[in-house]
Amino acid sequence: MNLLLMGPPGAGKGTQAVLLRERLGIAHLSVGEMLREAVKRGTPLGRMAREIMERGELVPDDVVGDMVLRRLAEPDCRSGFVLDGYPRNLPQAARLSEILREKGRRLDRVVSLRLSLVELLKRLTGRRVCGSCGALYHLLTRPPKRDGVCDTCQGVLLQRSDDSEQVVRERLRVFEEQTQPLFEHYGREGILSEVEGAGTVEEIAERIAAVLELAAA
Ligand code: AP5
Repeated sequence: MNLLLMGPPGAGKGTQAVLLRERLGIAHLSVGEMLREAVKRGTPLGRMAREIMERGELVPDDVVGDMVLRRLAEPDCRSGFVLDGYPRNLPQAARLSEILREKGRRLDRVVSLRLSLVELLKRLTGRRVCGSCGALYHLLTRPPKRDGVCDTCQGVLLQRSDDSEQVVRERLRVFEEQTQPLFEHYGREGILSEVEGAGTVEEIAERIAAVLELAAA
């Protein structure tokens, strides 16, 4: 199954994409994660992306398009994939269609997670991420067993540099301006499903499973 998860920053795309990867045995492609990895390694791409991401803006379309093209060629994508955070504007959507067409593949479904502004801000300001394995936590809703320490690998938990309220507001503005038109685009293609993003992680996973017509977990 080839899926795309869409939604504003903090809607729960990364959280749900990991669950879909485990449930369906498909690859999880997070462009944000790939970019953060490049920033961490200090590659030329990472150095270029860092400032853009810290402002809450989008990294150039050709750069992220090439990253997705290379990632989709990796063996774990053969059994399917869940795209998380790409495409984010109409030119990126056109590039993705072209990439998939050349591979004889297509998107089966686009799932849109909707959440109120108040909830988005709560989720983003409370988010902590393991600096070693990338596991996601939330200070209120998914706290680690020990303060500041990852349950899985004992790595240090960090706050993302783009999760300050000022940058979050810019990311939300960019989402409204550039990503919002994609809902109409995929709606016209007849592959868009809207899912309420409020509720527990498990409740949302079951709503997604229902729109994908997956058997009960
Ligand atoms: P990216 O990393 O993709 O960030 P984003 O899209 O802004 O989304 P987030 O990762 O912030 O949120 P999410 O929806 O995944 O929520 P999560 O599951 O973590 O991109 C970062 C940057 O990279 C962009 O700003 C841009 O600069 C660049 N970039 C990326 N893609 C690009 C592209 N295509 N083109 C150009 N540039 C690009 O959940 C959030 C928190 O809530 C967590 O703490 C989690 O534990 C908690 N939580 C999740 N679900 C629930 C729940 N149901 N109940 C309670 N808490 C919950």
